[in-house]
Amino acid sequence: MGKGFYISRPLGFVLCGLGIVAMLTIFSLSVVYTKEKRKNQVTAINETGMVTTAAPHTTPAPSNEPWDKYRLPDTLLPEYYNVTLWPRLVPDEQGMYIFTGTSGVALTCIKETNLIIIHSNKLNYTLTLENHHAKLTGLGGTSAPAILKTWFQTQTQFMVILLNEKLEVGKSYWLYMEFRGELSDDLAGFYRSQYTENGVKKVVATTQMQATAARNAFPCFDEPSMKAVFHLTLQHPPETVALANGMELGECKLITIEDKKLLQTRFKPTEKMSTYLLAFVISEFTKIQSSEKTNVLIRIWGRKEAIESGQGDYALNVTFPILKYFENYYNTTYPLSKSDQVALPDFAAGAMENWGLVTYREQSLFYDPKESSNGDKEWVVTVIAHELAHMWFGNLVTMRWWNDLWLNEGFASYVSYLGADYAEPTWNIKDLMVLQQVQRAFAVDALVSSHPLSSREDEVITPDQISQLFDTITYSKGAAVLRMLSEFLTESVFAKGLHVCLKGLGTICTTSIKEIMNRWILQMGYPVVTIDTRTGNISQQHFLIHPEAVVEKPSDYNYEWFVPITWMKSGSNMGQHWLLTKTALYEPMKTGTDWLLANLNVMGYYRVNYDPQNWERLLTQLTTDHKVIPVLNRGQIIDDAFNLARAQIINITLALRTTKYLLKEKEYIPWESAIRNLQYFFLMFDRTEVYGPLQTYLRRNVQPLFDHFQNITSNWTQKPPRYMDQSNQINAISMACRTGVKGCSELTRMWYRQWMKNPDSNPIPPNLKNTVYCNAIAAGGVEEWDFGWQMFKKSTIAAEAEKLLYGLSCTKEPWLLNRYLEFTIDPKQVRKQDAAFAIVYISGNVIGQPLVWDFVRAKWEQITKDYDDGSFFFGRLIQGITKKFSTEFELKQLQRLKEDIAASSFSFGTQAIEQAIEKTKANIKWVSKNKAQVMNWLTEQST
Ligand SMILES: *[C@@H]1O[C@H](CO)[C@@H](O)[C@H](O)[C@H]1NC(C)=O
Ligand SMILES: *[C@@H]1O[C@H](CO)[C@@H](O)[C@H](O)[C@H]1NC(C)=O
Ligand SMILES: *[C@@H]1O[C@H](CO)[C@@H](O)[C@H](O)[C@H]1NC(C)=O
Ligand SMILES: *[C@@H]1O[C@H](CO)[C@@H](O)[C@H](O)[C@H]1NC(C)=O
Ligand SMILES: *[C@@H]1O[C@H](CO)[C@@H](O)[C@H](O)[C@H]1NC(C)=O
Ligand SMILES: [Zn+2]
Repeated sequence: MGKGFYISRPLGFVLCGLGIVAMLTIFSLSVVYTKEKRKNQVTAINETGMVTTAAPHTTPAPSNEPWDKYRLPDTLLPEYYNVTLWPRLVPDEQGMYIFTGTSGVALTCIKETNLIIIHSNKLNYTLTLENHHAKLTGLGGTSAPAILKTWFQTQTQFMVILLNEKLEVGKSYWLYMEFRGELSDDLAGFYRSQYTENGVKKVVATTQMQATAARNAFPCFDEPSMKAVFHLTLQHPPETVALANGMELGECKLITIEDKKLLQTRFKPTEKMSTYLLAFVISEFTKIQSSEKTNVLIRIWGRKEAIESGQGDYALNVTFPILKYFENYYNTTYPLSKSDQVALPDFAAGAMENWGLVTYREQSLFYDPKESSNGDKEWVVTVIAHELAHMWFGNLVTMRWWNDLWLNEGFASYVSYLGADYAEPTWNIKDLMVLQQVQRAFAVDALVSSHPLSSREDEVITPDQISQLFDTITYSKGAAVLRMLSEFLTESVFAKGLHVCLKGLGTICTTSIKEIMNRWILQMGYPVVTIDTRTGNISQQHFLIHPEAVVEKPSDYNYEWFVPITWMKSGSNMGQHWLLTKTALYEPMKTGTDWLLANLNVMGYYRVNYDPQNWERLLTQLTTDHKVIPVLNRGQIIDDAFNLARAQIINITLALRTTKYLLKEKEYIPWESAIRNLQYFFLMFDRTEVYGPLQTYLRRNVQPLFDHFQNITSNWTQKPPRYMDQSNQINAISMACRTGVKGCSELTRMWYRQWMKNPDSNPIPPNLKNTVYCNAIAAGGVEEWDFGWQMFKKSTIAAEAEKLLYGLSCTKEPWLLNRYLEFTIDPKQVRKQDAAFAIVYISGNVIGQPLVWDFVRAKWEQITKDYDDGSFFFGRLIQGITKKFSTEFELKQLQRLKEDIAASSFSFGTQAIEQAIEKTKANIKWVSKNKAQVMNWLTEQST
């Protein structure tokens, strides 16, 4: 919360009547939810006369055979598994890294069936004497039917076992298999990661099961509600250590198989849990562990060099307080006896909440006080808090099916800020949710190609459909909507509702949502609320960034919401009101000569527009004494105004005028909001005649901020004391350099040259590295670039490497950019996990952008093939590369790419391309409508 401004709690009072209903129902087990959604489906069909499913949601060709459906039948339940795995950390004669394993699963029959259908993907099996891929025996004295036939359905990723007789209801059976798989480098299932230490190549065997890759490691019932206990045994080279969800049991045993001496590590059986949360890691990593006397053993693992140089210390420091915070928040003790966290050199996502063994990208777990920036530290503490929050919400209670993923991820994203705030109480980190979650969600959710938070269960079936759910809506809108709910219920009522969920439901938590929340969860988008302070009229309208966009998806709620409106008048006099209809007359919203500001601290997930007079009064307040308006709302005014202008609801010059007061603004959140919105102007105009006047205007605005920081840092020699100022110093320098403020480029070049002279001692303050590397490399030539590249290759700190990866993309030399592009898809040069980022960085460079576009179109087949984590990678790539697109020519090219992909066997990134096409169309319209006006306004400002 910003300085000195806080909405008093009684505000929640009137709202609670409605709120508690929502709360109690959101976390209670009920069938209402499913019914509601079925009803929606019928209505949807009737209203349009046709089914309007978006491309990624189409269900594959229907078939009546149970093995052609993607969902498991409801005939069998797994009880426990006994799994033994032996990964080879050196390649075989064919140069392949493999693993072998055996797995048994005890399953109980709950409906008569003569079929066993179990997930299996990319595994080869040892045949039994009878020529089958599996053996079935009865448990507890039961006799098992004979196997007639076993086969694989590769499309649906099943092994199918046909029996000569039916299994008996209530009886248990043991299904046993021996198999081998590839320990490939595709970052999914059981995979390998590599690094060098003192010139020696090291191989790590590790896992990423979510969402549907446990089936790549061993045959299993790979759906989240198929919870079971896992008894795991790992066989591994003696110089390595093996970790898994459960604690290692006793001394490991030395064994010999195929003349190889191996260690055999057994693990404590897990809790009853979902397959997607399994993890095992075999490595030569070392660890640090907590010295505190607690019931929970906390260990941080990683490369020896990194751990010994203290990069895991920060993670260790914050883990204990964060666990304590969540124990208290959930009123439930940490469910396991240990908490391992491992940093992996190759990792596709940011981190993964495997129960008891959380895995991270190095950058998400490691922090180096000398080399890392505030942003890096903030990332580490919020990611840790996010993953630890899942240890209860997600792992202990789990969504029944992936269509409710948003509740899992939105919740963890929301409470990660609460946990991080507890670990770093001086940062005001909860305020950053507005920038990092709410505004991010606003951007995506204003497109007609957005989708509701919750999907119907039958819309999310295939692995592709499931992986597409891991998007901004799920994470950021989920967090924003839960934050709104929590605010209006008060944090303690919200947490209490959660407690009911954790304690009352045992293993599975399904959601059930009443009237209020339905509107936010079951329909996509959000409203813009327009307040006419002359009359007290308020109205709401579905906010779409592209004014001519046609919403084809019908909604049961007509794209209207129950909107909690909070407001203040002229700095005091606060109030609140629920807008429950499309329009309403509410007298207290009439203001006379006061200004009115709504959506205090941006707690509500909506934008606000006013009558012109009120906008004028707000602008006047900003230029006379901006501090009367809460800092989060100063950011909101800018962000709302620019977005309303893009949607052609208000004039573009009104939006530009919200930035005039920035001459006096020193706070991070308003500046950051402004810069993000102006980013759009850079994207649209940096190749046009508007660029010059834009630079002039911004240079004048940022000059006082640059001077301010030069002052408070004693000429750039000290760190500003406040955390938010440390963040804003980065904005001051990057905007100053970008717009050519005198002294800025010299400053960055001076720092970089000092470093080039003495590569072992980097004089650049960690917070400023990103912007300094970028500006110095942009101003320099091949020498600066090659030095940066050498430092990148040499770097053993993930966060540092990432900054150089970005800085290198800033060069103005086309040949350097082309060479860099070639490096990005060569895994020997740039790790696969970083390739998409690097390519997107290059496309952000005005000179690099056309080079990248040609490059990606020429190579997309190779790229999608080599980077087989699918839509995640390609989607990110498309989104990044097409940001600048604003001409008919570019639109045509994009449509061509869409056709090419549709005609190929790849189904990656269809949603991302749809979104890119929609955005490009909007950009074309926006530029043609606004360019002249922007040009005029900017020119006026400089006279
Ligand atoms: C329309 O709704 C009715 C029930 O209200 C249902 O019987 C009918 O099948 C629906 N029409 C279509 C096309 O699904
Ligand atoms: C599975 O492993 C556990 C623990 O090692 C053992 O007690 C159990 O007998 C095994 N079950 C079967 C069916 O082999
Ligand atoms: C599995 O079998 C296929 C077909 O014979 C083969 O191409 C593949 O390499 C095998 N995989 C492993 C890990 O042995
Ligand atoms: C971790 O905590 C210790 C003890 O409080 C402190 O001395 C150290 O600076 C902390 N390390 C980091 C990286 O925060
Ligand atoms: C936690 O739950 C217990 C009962 O399960 C209750 O007595 C206690 O008051 C709760 N504590 C908090 C902080 O809510
Ligand atoms: Zn998560």
